[in-house]
Amino acid sequence: MRRIKVTIVGAGNVGATVANILALKGMFDVAMVDIDRDLAKGKSLDIQQQCALVGSDSRVEGSNDYSITEGSSIAVITAGIARKPGMKREDLLKTNAEIVKQVIENIRNYSPEATIIVVTNPVDAMSYLAYKVSGLPKNKVMGMGGVLDTARFMYFIKTKLNVSYNSIRAMVIGGHGDEMVPLISSTYIGNKPIRSLLSEEEINEIVIKTQQGGAEIVSLLKTGSAYYAPGMSVVRMIESIVFDKKEILPCSVMCEGEYGINDIFFGLPIKLGKNGVEEIVEVELDSKEKEMLSKSVESVKSTIKLLKELITL
Ligand code: LAC
Repeated sequence: MRRIKVTIVGAGNVGATVANILALKGMFDVAMVDIDRDLAKGKSLDIQQQCALVGSDSRVEGSNDYSITEGSSIAVITAGIARKPGMKREDLLKTNAEIVKQVIENIRNYSPEATIIVVTNPVDAMSYLAYKVSGLPKNKVMGMGGVLDTARFMYFIKTKLNVSYNSIRAMVIGGHGDEMVPLISSTYIGNKPIRSLLSEEEINEIVIKTQQGGAEIVSLLKTGSAYYAPGMSVVRMIESIVFDKKEILPCSVMCEGEYGINDIFFGLPIKLGKNGVEEIVEVELDSKEKEMLSKSVESVKSTIKLLKELITL
């Protein structure tokens, strides 16, 4: 079988989780790079040996040398520092910008065709940086945020209504920050609008829990942020791209007028296929959602403005 090669930069919890899921599927080869060579090597050996137990012939390599990444179809950037309790994603800006800039240059040397998925926070700003530094067309650079936020939104709906995930249709768009926008007006539970099942107050509670979902986990873990759901969110995006599934998933993408938004990376519903971002889907929003969206735009704009002051693009 011809497997698809994926580079993962950062052998921390998110990077290793993505590597592990991909390797278990048997359809991917994984090259994991980290400044800590032994960490990348140790985790990749562990994952590779686990493959023996499930009959996966995936190659999993780990190194601090980017030559192992040569010829990848996808590159996932998880490198950078993670939030500690009390920190906002934006607090990571300067340190992570310097890391991401270098990572992109290295990736481009070995896999000039790779589609880039950014996970490093603050993800909208880091994706913008990756786009500018890489010189890639805008369909080939995106950030992971909305898929994860949607999973969290679905979790809170599920626990409130005691219903299968399979019967929930929901999406969270906007920046991957506290102002993210769960799309209440188009959330359906078994074809019923969520507003017919829950009061405005109950819905608001779910919205707030979703917005704070990442921070809740940070405060419980104490030494880092979430990784299982973020890892699976990345895998979902990778599969839609490499298998040309054309799923519509919320991802952070370069905006050029869509939803009236310009020159920032921002989470919007995207058709993801073999060409990466194949379409930005415009969904109808009610007035409250529009208002929330413009607050989120302002917040991402100010982070990107700050980024431009810190780093020459
Ligand atoms: C979170 C990180 C990945 O939301 O941003 O958990």
